[in-house]
Amino acid sequence: MVKVVSVVGARPNFVKLAALHPVIARRFDHVIIHTGQHYDYEMSKIFFEHLDIPEPDYYLGVGSGTHGYQVGEAVRRTEEVLFRERPNLVVVYGDTNSALAGALAAVKAGFSVAHVEAGLRSFDMSMPEEVNRRVIDHVSALLFAPTETAVWNLRRESVMGEIHLTGDVHVDVLMRWVGVAEEKSTIMDKLGVEDKDYVLVTVHRAENADNPHNLGRVVEVLREVPERYGRRVVFPVHPRTLASLRSFGLLERLGDPRIALIGPLGYVDFIKLLRHAWRVITDSGGVQREAYLLGVPCIVIRDRTEWVDLVESGHVTLTGLDPRKVLAALETDAPREGSRNLLGRGDASEKMAEILVSRLGT
Ligand code: UD1
Ligand code: UDP
Repeated sequence: MVKVVSVVGARPNFVKLAALHPVIARRFDHVIIHTGQHYDYEMSKIFFEHLDIPEPDYYLGVGSGTHGYQVGEAVRRTEEVLFRERPNLVVVYGDTNSALAGALAAVKAGFSVAHVEAGLRSFDMSMPEEVNRRVIDHVSALLFAPTETAVWNLRRESVMGEIHLTGDVHVDVLMRWVGVAEEKSTIMDKLGVEDKDYVLVTVHRAENADNPHNLGRVVEVLREVPERYGRRVVFPVHPRTLASLRSFGLLERLGDPRIALIGPLGYVDFIKLLRHAWRVITDSGGVQREAYLLGVPCIVIRDRTEWVDLVESGHVTLTGLDPRKVLAALETDAPREGSRNLLGRGDASEKMAEILVSRLGT
């Protein structure tokens, strides 16, 4: 039987794997390698449990560290597994260090790579993700691009692999789970929030979380939201950001009953909270798309985004970290209706699987 290996390791990889696993496993022998980049229960295992993904076949336990350590160890340990499994294809997801390591380990060991979410560019090489996605795209044999802009970026760079416009797998995952979230999640009751009476916040990018000045500006914005807009703030805090809030002495500045600091959430709870939020303030790649799909106005506290189509269509407002700009953007009302199909129709994973069958057989 044809064998496909997926290499994952961090939260956004698991969400994308939730789309691909069922369609790959239906057609091929599917082996999942988890590098161990994310390891806390609520950053890792909860996604496998809640999104019907089987336990990984291999858990490599790489953990945290510098980029050199994390990528290097993940390459070394993944390579060992690839030599044992000898797959027909290795699939990597998005732009994390685990995706980079999976792609490098595979191509160096002589196995073909498919990249889910190929061709995105922020044109900011100070972001580790931009470095990762550029390298992955140039070593991949199959490039699954979510948007026409992504296809265009790949063509301009003359990548060697085959480019396919498939749509975004986040649409597939959201369509499958949003109803379950609505019905089953009790997170709003637990937090005591109601439809549109809160702003949801996620922050974890290195440029925001690791810099005391920048994180301080985020904190100032969050303190201002209840004052100015009479809305609560719900902030599921990434462990990286929690560590920084503590070490920069910023945690106490968020000690306001109108600001709920909670741990990272499982996907279903997160989607429920996002769907009912008045606004979302985020630096996440995944959350920008989910906000667009759910029609929630989204403010991105970065200088650049790789999801330029969402900015151009007016669904995402890019503010950087200037508190005045962020607070002003909160006043922007619901996104314009119209171009509601920027990311495909929710069949990206099926399209990818058909392409894999045509290239690999079954
Ligand atoms: C990684 C990805 C980023 C993605 C994010 C999603 C890279 C370069 N970055 O960033 O693209 O948006 O995941 O969440 O791959 N930590 C824990 N427990 C965990 C995981 C991390 O405490 O389970 C803490 C550790 O202190 C660690 C820090 O978070 O040093 C950062 O983790 P890391 O995986 O290096 O990067 P992320 O910021 O999570
Ligand atoms: N997410 C989640 N719980 C949280 C925060 C995010 O389930 O507390 C989901 C979110 O819906 C998104 C995915 O995790 O689809 C990955 O987002 P993250 O912000 O971690 O990574 P990025 O997309 O920025 O690489």
